[in-house]
Amino acid sequence: MKRKVAGFVISNTEISNDIFSMWITTDLASDANPGQFVGVFPNRESTLLPRPISICEVNEEKTALRLVYRVVGKGTSELSHMKEGRRIFLLGVLGNGYDLEKGRNKSVLLMAGGIGVPPILELAKRLSGCGGSEEAIAKDITAVIGYRNSDTYLLEELEQYARVYVATEDGSLGTKGNVIDAINANKLNSDIIYACGPMPMLKAIKNLAKEREITAYISLEERMACGVGACLGCVCKTTHKDHHSHVNNARICTDGPVFEAKEVDI
Ligand SMILES: Cc1cc2nc3c(=O)[nH]c(=O)nc-3n(C[C@H](O)[C@H](O)[C@H](O)COP(=O)(O)OP(=O)(O)OC[C@H]3O[C@@H](n4cnc5c(N)ncnc54)[C@H](O)[C@@H]3O)c2cc1C
Ligand code: FES
Repeated sequence: MKRKVAGFVISNTEISNDIFSMWITTDLASDANPGQFVGVFPNRESTLLPRPISICEVNEEKTALRLVYRVVGKGTSELSHMKEGRRIFLLGVLGNGYDLEKGRNKSVLLMAGGIGVPPILELAKRLSGCGGSEEAIAKDITAVIGYRNSDTYLLEELEQYARVYVATEDGSLGTKGNVIDAINANKLNSDIIYACGPMPMLKAIKNLAKEREITAYISLEERMACGVGACLGCVCKTTHKDHHSHVNNARICTDGPVFEAKEVDI
């Protein structure tokens, strides 16, 4: 159930250029799953709307959430200045999250780029059985991550749970190019794909899944306003009719952000 709650900043540090990692103590951690997100309220009146940020990690005790975010505008800039001990308001837990069961006993490929990397960390942790579940869910886990350059983040952490391949736009690390180039260069195969990243990357993954006749779950991190299904500011075209509006639309904030790739028109 979604609710607005107060939490406290435990730490907030810059882990790469303009990328911050914030741990927050909050009750929301008890039922937060990978692929879901929280609406984070910045403090100024000029930034009234909550900013959607994915759950990057949940601590073992399920009492704290980790958010990893890039500073891009007013809201995220304000977040980057929040100090330890500071009270912070969150709306959550929002969205559907990835269906972990679909990866049971399968060779799983995790694909992420840009600011789509954070949710993949908790996903890899849970699929490998390190997120509090008794056993590994997936048979094996490979991650292919795209960065602009060798200024990476969360890479060593991902390597704890998955075999990781990197693609960089400038070729300074791993395969030169994008995540699809890295898949081709390393001849990677899988039974299923889970992905998060910019739209061109998700479109390419949708095509790849179609060619290979495998299922891909993609997280659409579109622009959002209310985050709770009220403003229709985040709709996308789908193959199914929305039970709310009776048209072939889905609200990314409530029906998603994770969709099976073949069900959405992107
Ligand atoms: C489901 C979801 C998960 C996300 N997870 C992460 C994450 O883990 N880490 C991260 O760095 N970023 C993430 N984003 C993007 C993040 O929400 C935006 O970068 C952030 O809202 C920008 O706020 P701002 O005030 O700094 O920028 P501004 O451009 O000043 O924002 C103005 C308005 O546009 C909205 N907005 C701007 N960019 C985006 C965007 N890309 N997506 C959605 N709304 C946007 C803001 O919420 C705000 O209402 C996610 C977005 C979505 C939808
Ligand atoms: S952001 Fe308002 S309906 Fe999705």
